[in-house]
Amino acid sequence: MKLLIMGAPGAGKGTQATALAERYGVPAISTGDIFRYNIKNQTPLGVKVKAIIDAGEYVPDDVTEEIVASRLAEPDCEQGFLLDGFPRTMHQVHFLDRYLAERSAPLDAVVSLMVQPEALVQRLLARAEIEGRADDNEDTIRRRMEVYAGQTAPLLFHYENKGLLVDVDGTGTVDEVRQRMFDLVDAHVKA
Ligand code: AP5
Ligand code: MG
Repeated sequence: MKLLIMGAPGAGKGTQATALAERYGVPAISTGDIFRYNIKNQTPLGVKVKAIIDAGEYVPDDVTEEIVASRLAEPDCEQGFLLDGFPRTMHQVHFLDRYLAERSAPLDAVVSLMVQPEALVQRLLARAEIEGRADDNEDTIRRRMEVYAGQTAPLLFHYENKGLLVDVDGTGTVDEVRQRMFDLVDAHVKA
């Protein structure tokens, strides 16, 4: 299974990716988590991307694509993967299309989690209290949402045109969203 999970900041990608990846026995790979790990450990990559991420902007495509390519080359991705937060730009979409075409390994489904913007801000402000992520303050949250709307939301059309999009209402409890997503993804991959 080769899956993507997409959605605005706070839509529940990370929360639901874990469950979906477990269901299909593939690793969940979050580019945001990889960047935060590198920032925390002050690696050269972390030093390079910290200011960009703290400002809610996107890391350059070449940097992000290199990280994804090396992660997908690891043995645990041989049977598939679930990418959370990649691709986010048209350049990244084309990169992934090419990468998978070269390996004759097409995507099975692209999950799109949808939640109203105001609910997203509330979720992320609540998370700020618990996790203290540097980009979870109101100004940066709004900037992340703008960047998402401008650069990433339009990418959903690309996957819709390929017949891969699975639209999931991301509102309700975590359990409700998970069950809704499982039902829709199961139906999509069996069809
Ligand atoms: P990334 O880490 O991907 O952040 P994001 O897209 O802003 O999304 P979040 O991780 O904040 O939210 P989520 O959708 O995972 O929701 P979650 O499950 O945590 O990226 C961070 C940054 O890295 C980017 O801004 C960019 O700078 C850089 N980056 C990453 N990928 C990149 C790329 N490909 N190209 C360029 N740059 C890139 O849930 C959010 C909160 O809500 C949690 O507290 C959760 O417990 C709660 N919650 C979840 N579901 C529910 C529910 N149903 N009801 C109530 N609360 C819920
Ligand atoms: Mg996340």
